[in-house]
Amino acid sequence: MRSVFLGPPGAGKGTQARMIAADGTVLHLSTGDLLREEVNAGSALGLKAKRFMDDGKLVPDELVFEILFAKLGLGKGMARAFILDGFPRTRAQALELDRRLAAVGLPLVAVVNFVTSEDAAVARLSSRLVCRNCQAAYNARTARPARDGICDRCGGELYRRHDDDPDVVRVRFQEYRQKSAELVAYYQQSGLLRNVDAELPVAEVVRQLRQQVFAKK
Ligand code: AP5
Repeated sequence: MRSVFLGPPGAGKGTQARMIAADGTVLHLSTGDLLREEVNAGSALGLKAKRFMDDGKLVPDELVFEILFAKLGLGKGMARAFILDGFPRTRAQALELDRRLAAVGLPLVAVVNFVTSEDAAVARLSSRLVCRNCQAAYNARTARPARDGICDRCGGELYRRHDDDPDVVRVRFQEYRQKSAELVAYYQQSGLLRNVDAELPVAEVVRQLRQQVFAKK
């Protein structure tokens, strides 16, 4: 299963991708997580990406391509099953992904579009907590960790993402609205797109994904 998870900030892409990938059979790659790792490591790429991320803007394609395609492998030993979470975000990124996957004869199989209202997503992000170590997402209102401030999965420290500040969230949404229409249309035309109601409870969304997208043949 080679898949892409699309959707606005706070739609639950990362939460669902982590649940699907938890059994180790699917590689989960989030461009947001990969970029934050670079920022935290203080790499040259991270320094360039940081100012775009802090402002809620998309990071330039060449930086995102460098980091994502290196992780994906795209050659011998490449993961046969993956979820790309938060990539592509533009039609240009989708075209580049298709070109690279076609070159290795492993095209995408499914594109999941997480559909949610801006109000619902903003409400979630205003109370999201993220693990500094494994990047698992929690929610101070609806999905609290067992111990305050500590990740259930790895014991890491939980923090609030700088770009979950309401002003930055609004810019991220604006970016999403501007870029997503032609991206969704592109995947609709390809016949790969499946819409998921991302406002359903977490357990119901993952049940639908497992049944409709990730069912073992
Ligand atoms: P990124 O980290 O990818 O942010 P995003 O796409 O805006 O997505 P989020 O991580 O905010 O949300 P999510 O959908 O994963 O929701 P989550 O599961 O955490 O990108 C950050 C930045 O990096 C971008 O702004 C950009 O600068 C740069 N970047 C990244 N990719 C790029 C690219 N391809 N090109 C250029 N730049 C790029 O859930 C959110 C909250 O909701 C949590 O608290 C969770 O517990 C809760 N929740 C989840 N599901 C449910 C549910 N069903 N019901 C109730 N609560 C739920």
